[in-house]
Amino acid sequence: MVESSDKRGNIPIHVGIVMDGNGRWAKRRFLPRVIGHQAGMKAMERVIDSAKDLGIRYLSLYAFSTENWKRSHSEVQGLMGLFRYYLKGKIDSMHRRGAKVRFVGHLDAFPDDIREIAQMAMERTKDNGDIDVIFCVNYGGRQEIVDAVNQLLVQKQVGPVTEETMRGLMYAPDVPDPDLLIRTAGELRMSNFWLWEGAYSEYYFTDVYWPDFNKAELERAIESYAGRERRYGTA
Ligand code: FPP
Repeated sequence: MVESSDKRGNIPIHVGIVMDGNGRWAKRRFLPRVIGHQAGMKAMERVIDSAKDLGIRYLSLYAFSTENWKRSHSEVQGLMGLFRYYLKGKIDSMHRRGAKVRFVGHLDAFPDDIREIAQMAMERTKDNGDIDVIFCVNYGGRQEIVDAVNQLLVQKQVGPVTEETMRGLMYAPDVPDPDLLIRTAGELRMSNFWLWEGAYSEYYFTDVYWPDFNKAELERAIESYAGRERRYGTA
């Protein structure tokens, strides 16, 4: 098992976030949902900067789940438009900030142009090392495990399958397991995010809607995390 440690002054090495509440944020303001996602994108940019400032080495962001296709056509199109805008306009600044951008999930279901710019973004930033920003897109934790099992079948693996084998077949085996998983907007579940990797993660939930999440909120989450004792099942 890849376990990241929290021995650096209790700053988590890997933080994962379920960015929830864009729709409700917009509804409260009588605005269309896509405006909520736009505000969510701005919050995401601020939080990436804050995570880097705070010394978080890996930040994973649940940007589009395998279930999100079930949303209305206009909302899905709106989200695709935002991905396009973000990837075309913001990768330069991510690069200048020393961020290595990665995508995990079934990106193949996305429109060709988005796939291509995502690929270019990964290529462009691959040598950066200040922070890894992992966008989970068309990602589902169960799908990730199913994909791993299918790889075993293709490889005709004989003999016992270990946790180590399975871990190596996940989408980002080199990324340490998340130390801290955050979900905004008051829901108390992880909705298929880092199912395998999150086995020993600490959870933090806040009522704050994602567009209002900021550095102070991230610090609050880290403070809560820092006060916990992680025992990984030991006494
Ligand atoms: C959940 O809020 C959020 C999403 C499904 C999309 C997350 C997308 C972003 C933060 C913006 C763009 C990202 C990139 C990579 C450019 P919700 O719509 O489920 O909110 P609700 O529960 O209040 O309806």
